Amino acid sequence: MSHSITKICNDFIAELDQAIGNQTAESIFVLTDGNTRQYCLPIAAKSVKLKGCHVICIPFGDENKNVDSAVEIWKYLSENGANRKSLMINLGGGMITDIGGFTASTFKRGMRYINVSTTLLGAVDAATGGKTGINFMGLKNEIGVFAPAETVLINIDFFKTLDDKNLRSGYAEMVKHALIDTYVEWESILKFDLESINFEILKSILERSIRIKERVVEADPFEANIRKALNLGHTFGHAFESWSYKTDKPALHGYAVMWGLLCELYLSFVKLNFPKEELLRLKYLTKEYYGTFEFSCNDYESLFELMTHDKKNDSKEINFTLLANIGEIRINQTATKEEIFECFDWFREG
Ligand code: GLY
Repeated sequence: MSHSITKICNDFIAELDQAIGNQTAESIFVLTDGNTRQYCLPIAAKSVKLKGCHVICIPFGDENKNVDSAVEIWKYLSENGANRKSLMINLGGGMITDIGGFTASTFKRGMRYINVSTTLLGAVDAATGGKTGINFMGLKNEIGVFAPAETVLINIDFFKTLDDKNLRSGYAEMVKHALIDTYVEWESILKFDLESINFEILKSILERSIRIKERVVEADPFEANIRKALNLGHTFGHAFESWSYKTDKPALHGYAVMWGLLCELYLSFVKLNFPKEELLRLKYLTKEYYGTFEFSCNDYESLFELMTHDKKNDSKEINFTLLANIGEIRINQTATKEEIFECFDWFREG
């Protein structure tokens, strides 16, 4: 599988034009949702190469990353003369890049596609790495293919309109990348001031964060081994996220990941002697900027049940990626129910 290089743009329109190349406008299909059509398309449309292109708009939100929206996209492509040489431009967050990548790479067995990530979370995670897909029968990303975008473009200016919560949600995945990489990255991520975001500094740490992900993906594009490092925090995190959807306080993905990271580093401390000092630094960061996730000991069984359904499990055992130290990754770890409940206790004690 060949890989795209994610570009953090200095001159978004010029770099978009370059990525589009000689493609004619009538063979370009820009995929948007209600939000990106309103707020991001007018910026991208400054590219003369997009004058007269097709615009597809699907409803916003992960609940619409489904087969109905995929059918709408395929129908539009089919009825408007798209072919293998056409180009799809996915303009949006992770939902749009996931479904856009999936529909583009399956339409007529695959057309060119470019991701333009408009959220920090999407930029640091979904847009890069070639995972595409849709949710199906209540399961996230149940149907999909590995098919990397030809180019991934990040325009930091899009992030300036995101609220603090959405910026923090993206930042959590950057914390994860630092933890699986080196002390240097970990120290640098901890120094970043979340109270007053400096977008120039964000740009430079985002660049390094994306390179960490690219290196991991390049080593193991189909997640047979080391790419599982990117699942750090996500076993507990997905359970918290799914649980939160049943309450009146649904959590943003990155918040659930941050709480998941905290539980999984505690598990790493218990099982692999991960340094307590670093665990406490993560705990401080989490409590300060992400608050806590409320649940009681009566919920432990249900949360545990959600963890056993995670797609990352090869068998009935719950699969974790843990750390023996910053950057010392241990994939394919398991834990007993008692150990998992101990993590819940520790997390709730604050
Ligand atoms: N989101 C994790 C990965 O791309 O593998």
